[in-house]
Amino acid sequence: MMAMSKLVFPVIWVLFLCYWFSLLGCENGVEASHVLYPHLKSVEASIVDKRYRTGYHFQPPKNWINDPNGPMYYNGVYHLFYQYNPKGARWGNIVWAHSVSMDMINWMPLKPAIYPSKLFDIKGCWSGSATILPGNLPAILYTGIDPEDRQVQNIAFPKNLSDPYLIEWDKPDYNPIIEPIDGINSSSFRDPTTAWRGSDGWWRVLVGSKTRKRGEAILYRSRDFKNWVKAPHPLHSSQGTGMWECPDFYPVSTKGEHGLNTTYNGDDVKHVLKVSLDDKKFEYYTIGQYMHEMDLYVPDRTLADNSSGLRYDYGKYYASKTFFDDGKNRRILWGWVNESDSVTDSETKGWAGVQTIPRVVRLDKNGKQLVQWPIAEVKTLRRKPVHLHHKKLMKGELFHVKGIIAPQADVEVEFRLPSFDKAEIFDPSWVDPQILCSQKGVQVEGSIGPFGLFVLASESLDEYTAVFFRIFKAKDKHVVLMCSDQSRSTLRTEVDKTTYGAFVDVDLKHGKLSLRSLIDRSIVESFGGEGRACITARVYPTKAVGSQARLYAFNYGSEPVRILKLKAWTMLYARTLNDLRSTHTEIQLEQGE
Ligand code: FRU
Repeated sequence: MMAMSKLVFPVIWVLFLCYWFSLLGCENGVEASHVLYPHLKSVEASIVDKRYRTGYHFQPPKNWINDPNGPMYYNGVYHLFYQYNPKGARWGNIVWAHSVSMDMINWMPLKPAIYPSKLFDIKGCWSGSATILPGNLPAILYTGIDPEDRQVQNIAFPKNLSDPYLIEWDKPDYNPIIEPIDGINSSSFRDPTTAWRGSDGWWRVLVGSKTRKRGEAILYRSRDFKNWVKAPHPLHSSQGTGMWECPDFYPVSTKGEHGLNTTYNGDDVKHVLKVSLDDKKFEYYTIGQYMHEMDLYVPDRTLADNSSGLRYDYGKYYASKTFFDDGKNRRILWGWVNESDSVTDSETKGWAGVQTIPRVVRLDKNGKQLVQWPIAEVKTLRRKPVHLHHKKLMKGELFHVKGIIAPQADVEVEFRLPSFDKAEIFDPSWVDPQILCSQKGVQVEGSIGPFGLFVLASESLDEYTAVFFRIFKAKDKHVVLMCSDQSRSTLRTEVDKTTYGAFVDVDLKHGKLSLRSLIDRSIVESFGGEGRACITARVYPTKAVGSQARLYAFNYGSEPVRILKLKAWTMLYARTLNDLRSTHTEIQLEQGE
């Protein structure tokens, strides 16, 4: 008995201490931006609740997902890898899950491509990117967590290049290829970018990091893609921004709408640097000049180079990544959209997180910002079109758009605005669009606006998500405010209902303003001014579900606004495929319908 208790007690103490440390969030000391629930990270989903599952957004059948990883187009197949917990609906046990597609809409799930198996990634396989090397060889660079909890950068190659889906990946024994030495903080060193090659033949790659509060994109160079040397200075850094996660760096054309290979450089390009701010949980980007000889990136002087900078998306959106689709000569942007309900709800639902509809991203003609638009392939899911033309919306008017299945729809609307003489005066102290949207919610009558859409609305209007505009008059211009107001999106109280806002830098010369919303049960992705501002929201209505959900156009401003045209479609479910070859023919058949 004595002997027994001698054995049992120390074990109990160790378990007890482990439990307490885990509650303090110091689970094996690994630092990431995600909330840790160590005691729950491996709780298997018992049931997968379908109510809020999306119909045509990217989602695996169950469990937690976060960042899109290493997206690429290779030999006619689109690959999407993503951070995934194979064991539960919370962050933890992270591997690179893998799906392939012919059109980035219908997907075929494969087994995880990269998972902890070697000392250099035994505690996790975190985010990274793909680069297609000369000779058409794909390489993945990713962050591994080693036994000392250090973040190190590793490389992986497909095991069998003749497998069209690249299911198996090999990690050479010479990993890690980049280590946190020379004073780099080993817990703030992650998420390698797609590499690019300079005219001098050297490869370059960025790794996100920080030095105290200065966020930085550390630059490494290599001749052979195996031996990497840290450059004397980062490609770029910015004081006070904190840890830079998931940096992305790429050229955009100043001459046309086409995308460019990450390696491309010339007189007709600007460069984009996007970083995800660990402290703020949102991203910003700058557009600027990449001075190749000095390996320095200098953002345009007119742009804020901190958390008040430009964003791809002003809503719930993080850890985005682009890739060059050389099949269609476009640059595609993926982004992760987290949940707005509680972690316990995720457990109940059996899943958490979705990816946005992939977007084409390009430089605006004004050269001052990017423009994004859902890939054209999403149109293959459109059915039962409803059209409306020249409908005047008077003050206080609400117009029910009938004939679509409103919880799963795509809506495009173009408004004609009244004369700007009557617009409200813009107060120059209103610098934060999100605050302005929450102060001037949908119920606050204005002059030109609020007008827009009520999506996922219940019949009695006790639930709806309002996506709308307000137009103001400033000194010698107009200010267009776009809001996504979730305050009445659900009768549930314990849900994050933050109202999001963005200023839309759009030319109103012809008095027209457009809005598109991709509505998909618990996600609303909205594009204002033809993609000049985007806002994504997660909402969980209780009444506005299934056939009970409605779509309205509205005008709560005192001035009438005209709908020039409105088109809405019911969206089909995207398909989960077992064999990609069948999709190809099916999609062609559908397009020809
Ligand atoms: C961003 C991030 C990355 C990290 C990954 C871990 O959401 O924290 O920095 O590599 O997620 O899952």
